[in-house]
Amino acid sequence: MESGEGQSVLVTGGAGYIGSHCCKALSEAGYRPVCYDNLSTGHAEFVKWGPLVRGDIQDVPKLTETLKSYKVVAVMHFAALSLVGESVADPQKYYQNNLVGTLALLQAMRSVGCLNLVFSSTGAVYGAADRKSIPEEFTCSPINPYGATKWMIERALSDYRSAYGFASFCLRYFNASGADPSGLIGEMRDQETHLIPRAMMALQGHIPQLEIYGDDYATPDGTAIRDYVHVVDLASAHVRAIEKLLEGQVGGSFNLGTGSGFSVKEILSTIALVTGKPVPHAIKGRRVGDPAVLVADPSKAKTTLGFEPTNSDLDTIIKTAWAWHQRAHPAKL
Ligand SMILES: NC(=O)c1ccc[n+]([C@@H]2O[C@H](COP(=O)([O-])OP(=O)(O)OC[C@H]3O[C@@H](n4cnc5c(N)ncnc54)[C@H](O)[C@@H]3O)[C@@H](O)[C@H]2O)c1
Repeated sequence: MESGEGQSVLVTGGAGYIGSHCCKALSEAGYRPVCYDNLSTGHAEFVKWGPLVRGDIQDVPKLTETLKSYKVVAVMHFAALSLVGESVADPQKYYQNNLVGTLALLQAMRSVGCLNLVFSSTGAVYGAADRKSIPEEFTCSPINPYGATKWMIERALSDYRSAYGFASFCLRYFNASGADPSGLIGEMRDQETHLIPRAMMALQGHIPQLEIYGDDYATPDGTAIRDYVHVVDLASAHVRAIEKLLEGQVGGSFNLGTGSGFSVKEILSTIALVTGKPVPHAIKGRRVGDPAVLVADPSKAKTTLGFEPTNSDLDTIIKTAWAWHQRAHPAKL
């Protein structure tokens, strides 16, 4: 038996993109990942490393029963809706699912005395912070309901830490990307909004072209710069966070990014190099609230969690994502 010694970790949203990669990493570290998911955007076929409990995080009795029956020692919490545009159009859906759902999860955890949580937060808590290398101390000022739900949950977790001794790591990911090299799991959504999968969908003929929102930013090539972090590196950081919690650490908020940014055009050039095909695209106007540059300062995660993003070079990200897309969405052309 390895480090996890077969202990159960509940993974809400474990049938989704990042959650499924974390289930694999947990299993490889010797834990039993118990996936708890309502399959609203997740996929039952992504649940390969432990049991699937089909349920909603708002269902406190079912959560409580699951935590008890599997003797869960810690929770990784990914279950959320995460389409920014939809959150602006229908905020009730987001506050209900993400915020009320998380409070229900915390209630169930407290009722069984399981007080260890790793929470999926986001770089979106910084809002339109238009600066390179954002540290955690930077003011959080989300500019849409999705980011607001994540920031409110972080605030609640900070209060739960002080009042109830509830330990939690809030991991603020920047742009999760890439896929597991096994080809078994990857990014797959009915409504895809992320740059790399959309570019690949355009290459495969699933959408006519990729939209580039703005090429007149104050960046070297005029397109927006973001920090892309490989999902396998995110998964390792989550397992480390679980280990720290089980060692008795109380947690805190941490950026997970590489500290380096790439522009939309640089991403498209790398995709063209890896696939041998140029991505069909069209330049559109800027989207409201999109900053020119959003790049993490990951120093705190490096020091405290030993976070080393060894898979997050652009070549590995694009190669693994392309291998997954060819398998999951064969070309239409
Ligand atoms: N993908 C990114 O770049 C990124 C960046 C920052 C933060 N995040 C956060 O990471 C987490 C995972 O993101 P993802 O990209 O894997 O998304 P995803 O949509 O692939 O996964 C979310 C999972 O949660 C489940 N779920 C949603 N609501 C639920 C509910 N009420 N009860 C039970 N299950 C529910 C879905 O069915 C799905 O399996 C989310 O919390 C997201 O906000 C993602």
